[in-house]
Amino acid sequence: MHRVTPEIESLSKEILTYTMDRLKMDPPTLDHPLSQTALEEAAGQTITESGLGGESALRLFIDKLAPACISEDHPRYLAFVPTAPTDVSTLFDLIVGASNICASSWLEGAGAIYAENQALRWISDIAGFPPEAGGVFVSGGTAGNLSALVAARHDWRQKRPDHAAQRGLIISSRGAHASVQQAAHVMDADLIQSGGHRLTGADVAATIAALSETDRSRLFAVACTAGTTNLGIVDDLEGIGAICQQNSVWYHVDGAYGGAALAAPSTRRLFNGIETADSFIVDPHKWLFAPFDCCALIYADPAKARRAHRQHGDYLEVFYDGTWNPSDYAHHLSRRARGLPFWFSLAVHGTKAYADAVEVTLDRAREAATMIDAHPHLELVTDQQLSICVFRRLGWSPEDYKSWSDQLLENGIGLVTPTKHEGETVLRFCVVNPRTSSDDIQQILESL
Ligand SMILES: Cc1ncc(COP(=O)(O)O)c(C=O)c1O
Repeated sequence: MHRVTPEIESLSKEILTYTMDRLKMDPPTLDHPLSQTALEEAAGQTITESGLGGESALRLFIDKLAPACISEDHPRYLAFVPTAPTDVSTLFDLIVGASNICASSWLEGAGAIYAENQALRWISDIAGFPPEAGGVFVSGGTAGNLSALVAARHDWRQKRPDHAAQRGLIISSRGAHASVQQAAHVMDADLIQSGGHRLTGADVAATIAALSETDRSRLFAVACTAGTTNLGIVDDLEGIGAICQQNSVWYHVDGAYGGAALAAPSTRRLFNGIETADSFIVDPHKWLFAPFDCCALIYADPAKARRAHRQHGDYLEVFYDGTWNPSDYAHHLSRRARGLPFWFSLAVHGTKAYADAVEVTLDRAREAATMIDAHPHLELVTDQQLSICVFRRLGWSPEDYKSWSDQLLENGIGLVTPTKHEGETVLRFCVVNPRTSSDDIQQILESL
């Protein structure tokens, strides 16, 4: 199993051929899920005592399993938050696997960590974070939000001994992603959802003013959103930052989806105030064209995160010689150098190409909003800020939305799923793929 035999050599060619064929598909087949029973029928028992052999196992994946997975990079996949990795980032992912780097400590992964840190630096720079800012790539926004909030609570507990026995409190908003609520749950902390769809400094100030003295002392973080998942709204980052500063509360910004628009000149001003945050996340696997799984988690003062996250043990102390250890900045130890595909693509294409590609998707979403506006049966539900359009089909019931969405997928046209806005079932486009064209949008709108 650990020797490159002639069989492995020929398998490697097949794997590379498949990889290249998949990359060249324009568009890739959309595909669709199959039931457990259908997959059992199609793929059968895949793990056997003597193994299937490389060629058969690969064919099984290509012919039976891959078609039961939706291609997230399909240009008419506009549901949830899609992903559209650049070709070079996907290719480099193969190298990351082959290089077998443990990017936890400088001792083990210095070269990879150096490169990851440069990619993090670019993100820090477009956010206006200080020169000493730094962090780590984690698996996704959920892990990023949790790790940032754990660091926030640790910092709060270190400030006053009586905080050690207190249950912490976070202020967030109705528009915040479910992962913020989940983080509070995991941390056994309380969460207050303040404000409306766009959280403002005034909302946070009013929520803090209404707290009892005890609850005020339990407040350790405000977690706002730079690009809400459902509506694409950027909270009032400047106003919230000012209130956090006045109240000496950790300020976390979840830009998992929207943070990419920091790179685009046409939307950069929406993010003014982010530079005052204590921590910030953006997922390159969403709108910065990297493959799964990749979330950039950045702290203004990494020492605070280090105090919260560093793991100690006799065998680990060798790491702690003043070098930069990514394991210190999140809830993890061993880690894949998952920032490298993103770094490689940035290094190959340059940051201008990134800014341009984000602008292309923003333009496409603006165009989609105009087309929706002009459509006789459709109505925009909210003003579009980033690359999300939310709209209703006049006269439709929730069942109509669901059967239309199912049909769209069944026909291999696209994936657009219903969501809710203030209790009403509506539709939502999220455009992050520069390959999504006006014709793609038109094709979907025509079926409404
Ligand atoms: C704003 C926001 N935060 C957090 C997340 C969670 O990210 P992940 O799915 O990478 O854990 C998402 C996912 O869509 C998101 O949009």
